[in-house]
Amino acid sequence: MGDKLFDSLERFHGQRPWGRVLDAGTGEHSLKWLLGLAPEHITAVTGAGPRAEKLARLARPVDQMVLGNWKDPAFLNGQVYEVVLADYLLGALDGFAPYFQDQLFQRLRPHVGGALYFVGLEPFPDEASGPQEHLVLEIDRLRDACIKLAGHRCYREYPQEWVERNLERSGFRVVDAWAMPIVYRSRWVNGQLDVCVRKLPYFKDRALAAAMRDHIQDLREGSLAAIGPEGLRFGRDYVVIAEPA
Ligand SMILES: C[S@@+](CC[C@H](N)C(=O)[O-])C[C@H]1O[C@@H](n2cnc3c(N)ncnc32)[C@H](O)[C@@H]1O
Repeated sequence: MGDKLFDSLERFHGQRPWGRVLDAGTGEHSLKWLLGLAPEHITAVTGAGPRAEKLARLARPVDQMVLGNWKDPAFLNGQVYEVVLADYLLGALDGFAPYFQDQLFQRLRPHVGGALYFVGLEPFPDEASGPQEHLVLEIDRLRDACIKLAGHRCYREYPQEWVERNLERSGFRVVDAWAMPIVYRSRWVNGQLDVCVRKLPYFKDRALAAAMRDHIQDLREGSLAAIGPEGLRFGRDYVVIAEPA
């Protein structure tokens, strides 16, 4: 998931040089993509220590891997970049800086010299229109239920409309935006249900954890059989391009 979005960003960016780039919520996927573009410099930010250590091994000597939190007003003080990439950062923010979402764009604004490239997931609807879509919703809900029962925090996604409105309130001008349908495949099913399994040791109620393990396995088998190799189209990712107003 995500390559088509990065391809679309490359098309949008065209032949212009990438210059200094800030990956404001980094991960293997976004960092590898940026490294492939060979920009002058990458500063890659994460709020998670183990992730920082792992990703630091991928980066070039010229790049900087930074462990920090956007909630900290002094973080990356004075650093300005041609491109700031916020790739699924907003959805993850609840785990690192809960209730800071409405301030994120204002916080990133002084670091944006050229443009902010925002990538997000449109929240799922409450209802599904068919049995396969219903399975995607069930997996998504089960993952969040397991995260909560483990006492951890879930991701919280925001709609494109919310993002555009808040960008414009935070000193940006939206210059372009587009969305792309998502195709869920067995890799996604396994990935989400593996998260559920990893959360089981944190459950306080061991009987509930045992019952949940069986339920996860049933849902895994049912979903893999139903989704099949061609995958399932459901929901959309979106990109918003914004420049300092
Ligand atoms: C879902 S991951 C982003 C996906 C990533 N671009 C990739 O390629 O997989 C979210 C990233 O944002 C970081 N993050 C979330 N909230 C943060 C915050 N308040 N301050 C700094 N980093 C944060 C997380 O630590 C993680 O590195």
